[in-house]
Amino acid sequence: AVENIFFFENTTSTMDEAKKISENNKNLAHKSLIVALNQTQGRGRKNRHWLSFGENIYASYIYLPKNLMPQDGLFVMFAGCIAIVLALKQIGIDAKIKWPNDCLVSDKKIAGVLVDAKSDISSIDEIIIGFGVNINWADIPEETNATSVYEVTKKTTDRLFILDKIVQYLEALIKLIENKRKSNIIKLWRLYDTTLSRKVEIISDSKKIIGKASDIDEYGFLLVETQNGIQRIITSDSVRFL
Ligand code: BTN
Repeated sequence: AVENIFFFENTTSTMDEAKKISENNKNLAHKSLIVALNQTQGRGRKNRHWLSFGENIYASYIYLPKNLMPQDGLFVMFAGCIAIVLALKQIGIDAKIKWPNDCLVSDKKIAGVLVDAKSDISSIDEIIIGFGVNINWADIPEETNATSVYEVTKKTTDRLFILDKIVQYLEALIKLIENKRKSNIIKLWRLYDTTLSRKVEIISDSKKIIGKASDIDEYGFLLVETQNGIQRIITSDSVRFL
């Protein structure tokens, strides 16, 4: 269960607040949840700007793992996506996961997960998991290709109810990773995935890769069938469905 909650009406980014909390007092960091009503410098993966308009979820969760290896970071990101999908299921929303860190409804982005891990060569010391989930965002600009719970249900939803569910699922899923049951994470991921078997265009290290997303491997990396054989995507700047 969450041990501390830090609440901000307005902040630059809950990731910044999480870092400050863990730098100032490591004892307070473990299982702390940082929640903001608004962010002025929300960010996404690859330092992209994360729009923080509307009554959405902006939160970061700090976890000091005992038993995670550096290569488990991607699985924590998957756990974040699965937790969001399961929480949205509770209010009847059918969200899907797009590798590596997006949650989509009808191919529009409803949520994103950002993981900051501090690790040395053998283990992860600290992990900060950021969630942005679009909840009561009504007037979404067309060009964002985003959606929200409101847009799907036409109803206002209690953001804290959803956040509470996300964190409960997340804690259970992280336990699975710590207990070396990553294959269970992969199973759940496959159940809710919408990446595999689709044609994708991936930008990775400024190279463009086009092909069919065929599978993920045991490390969580994406395998893409291209004209030059199977390519393994370890890091990507963007994944676009064609
Ligand atoms: C992504 O899609 O690339 C990840 C987006 C993560 C956004 C959340 S909002 C709360 C937390 N604070 C941030 O600045 N980013 C994450």
